[in-house]
Amino acid sequence: MKPIIFDVDTGIDDALAMSYALNSPELELLGFTTCFGNVSVAEATRNTLAVLEKVGKRIPVYPGAEQTFIRGEKEGWSKHVHGEDGLGNTLKKDPISQPESQFAPEFIIEQVKNRPHEITIIAVGPLTNLALAIKIAPEIIPLVKEVVIMGGAVKVPGNVNAYAEANIIADPEAAEYVFSSGLQVTLVGLDVTMQTLLPKSTLNEWRATGKETAHFFADMTEFYIGYYESYYPGIGGCALHDPLAVGVAIDSSFVSAESMNVKVATEGEEAGRTVGHLAGEPRIRVCTEVEAERFLKHFLNRVV
Ligand code: RIB
Ligand code: CA
Repeated sequence: MKPIIFDVDTGIDDALAMSYALNSPELELLGFTTCFGNVSVAEATRNTLAVLEKVGKRIPVYPGAEQTFIRGEKEGWSKHVHGEDGLGNTLKKDPISQPESQFAPEFIIEQVKNRPHEITIIAVGPLTNLALAIKIAPEIIPLVKEVVIMGGAVKVPGNVNAYAEANIIADPEAAEYVFSSGLQVTLVGLDVTMQTLLPKSTLNEWRATGKETAHFFADMTEFYIGYYESYYPGIGGCALHDPLAVGVAIDSSFVSAESMNVKVATEGEEAGRTVGHLAGEPRIRVCTEVEAERFLKHFLNRVV
């Protein structure tokens, strides 16, 4: 099994990615770390605990950054994308379980030092927790086996504006710090995630199972597809951004990648843009192609 620390800003596709990871025997989930992004860090923590209760799993959840790495700004949440509660307005009651008291970056440091060269970090929100962890303890950088990041848009337009993808623009300084650190990064950006569309017809298939968890995920995903249809008319589904990062951690053959030096714009109109350069170090594995149908089948066989 591959030991995983899963960093989330639980929103709808984070929740789908959580279920996919939890139903994948290849992965050993050591803990979830939460960050602001789609919602506040308190809401992301609540949502992560709620999803774990819904799917009947007990994995520790470590609250993380509530504001950005350098500027200390609080993100304007993506309520129009993920709903007022971050889960497509499906949350009927708060979870009973409580998060851990340890700060997320400290958990990351402790786990990587305990299991050097073993741990894969999957990061599907702003990169603030990871940036804080390697700033506090730069000695862990060579000890992290791999970081699989959902973020960025290198050869395609962004999804917040023409340049920037949501996770990167939420904290550009954190992303630049991580990309320039020397961590072994695989970047699962919009270049590939926008090719992994979940068809709207899936929702009725999930509901037809009669499983409560399937109804839970169908209801939240219906909200998410509603946003996609308003932003991309006729798309007929939604992109599986965060689930694809999990898929790549399970089986990297779902994608092909080019090694690039990725710089993040932190100022001006292009803030949050991820620019790939073939010259210079460090090298980031930028995913440029995906076997979308094979990945979608794998995801659907496990998620609910
Ligand atoms: O751009 C998509 C990413 O931003 C996903 O991780 C989604 O959950 C949001 O965080
Ligand atoms: Ca996310």
